[in-house]
Amino acid sequence: MSNGVRIAPSILGADLTRLAEQVRAVLAGGADWLHVDVMDGRFVPNLTFGAAMVAALRRLTDVPIDVHLMVVEPERYIEPMAEAGASVLTFHPEATTHVQRQLAAIRQRGLLAGLALNPGSPLALAEEVVGDLDLLLVMTVNPGFGGQTYLPAANEKIQRARALLVGRGSRGFLEVDGGITRETIAAAHAAGADTFVAGNAIFSSRDPAREVSELRRRCLVTV
Ligand code: DX5
Ligand code: ZN
Repeated sequence: MSNGVRIAPSILGADLTRLAEQVRAVLAGGADWLHVDVMDGRFVPNLTFGAAMVAALRRLTDVPIDVHLMVVEPERYIEPMAEAGASVLTFHPEATTHVQRQLAAIRQRGLLAGLALNPGSPLALAEEVVGDLDLLLVMTVNPGFGGQTYLPAANEKIQRARALLVGRGSRGFLEVDGGITRETIAAAHAAGADTFVAGNAIFSSRDPAREVSELRRRCLVTV
């Protein structure tokens, strides 16, 4: 990690036939976390990875594995993801009835607890649980697929999210996910984000390792 910025390549964007090689490349490029998108075909219309993927990645590296649950009933995944070696577990508040209980359960299991807000989901959904959060994820696309376009309205929401965390004395991470590229990352960083998920931008690059450091560098350039 450097300059307080974390770059988290999303393996959804990787060439799965060469996953280990691609993971090693982004780690060599200085990737801070690995982001794993878990989709159940219900909360979002796509189906992706489960705990077996997290366990496989854990055998490759010690870096934090940042699991983004886009599933209904995230409570069913806490134990398997913890067992598999996940480090951060983030879910969407609409996916469960008892948000605070699940956040506490994640922490209890020794993981960092995250809450993710869709573009149409108000920040108010996080307000009552700021003290229970280690990470707030502001979605910058509607979740479900990689390679979508960053929604510019997110910048103002990131600012409000940062103000919420600061105002409540939270030391939680402020993560953004979706459409993060060389072109969009600086504004998200300027708005207050400190943790950046990127799939397509990194893995469709000819040099994924270099792209990780390039994204980090863009955060240092003033906009
Ligand atoms: C979107 C996922 C993202 C996705 C980002 O539903 O949550 O993590 O992998 O992919 P890019 O960076 O390609 O938008
Ligand atoms: Zn994600």
